[in-house]
Amino acid sequence: MFRNKNNWLLLILTMAGIISLNACSHDRNSPGFDYFPDMKYSEALNPNGSSDITGNGASMMMPVKGTIPRGIVPYPYPKTDEGMTKAGENLHNPLDSTEANIERGKTEYEIYCGLCHGNDGEGDGILITNEKYPSSPPALTGEDILERPDGEIYHVITLGSAIMGAHASQIRPQDRWAIILYIKNVLAQTNESDKPE
Ligand code: HEC
Repeated sequence: MFRNKNNWLLLILTMAGIISLNACSHDRNSPGFDYFPDMKYSEALNPNGSSDITGNGASMMMPVKGTIPRGIVPYPYPKTDEGMTKAGENLHNPLDSTEANIERGKTEYEIYCGLCHGNDGEGDGILITNEKYPSSPPALTGEDILERPDGEIYHVITLGSAIMGAHASQIRPQDRWAIILYIKNVLAQTNESDKPE
């Protein structure tokens, strides 16, 4: 019957047309015929969805108890006087007093500590002089701070003190130690007698 090539082409196009029109659904929200549905509808769970597999019904499982985020070292000393003494005895500054480390400490100090303790360490930071902060922080200059074990200062930066807030979430451990180098090597070297009147 179809000796003419064009007639075959017509038949194929017509059939393709019928098939593709049939694939459409009358429901506008449905895509109609699904080709490879197992690829279209993922078997994987929706991360914020629900699931019967986990005990609590949520698709995401809780980390195993005691899990530590990568790169985070848990801080073992409690925020007590004994905790601070222990930290002072056991924690030692892993950084050498190189120019680069001290410079790093200066940068971090002036970002995080200077606004209260003063960039010169005299306890007269901008939050104190403009009376935005209710309590005067101690000076970080002179003998007292020089004799304070590095670990105790690390403890204060990490957990905070009586009023002073904790800085663990803002300052990385290496930078906390660098700040201590800066305080000890630069700020603490200023003695009472050196202070300008
Ligand atoms: C918002 C103000 C504020 C900031 C910021 C701040 N401090 Fe303090 N800091 C204080 C006050 C107030 C005290 C005294 C009261 C207390 O111990 O909480 C104090 C106390 C201290 C002490 C003595 C604590 C003790 O136990 O004797 C040290 C050391 C110290 N700060 C270091 C730092 C360092 C280092 C930084 C920066 C990482 C810093 N502080 C940032 C307000 C601040």
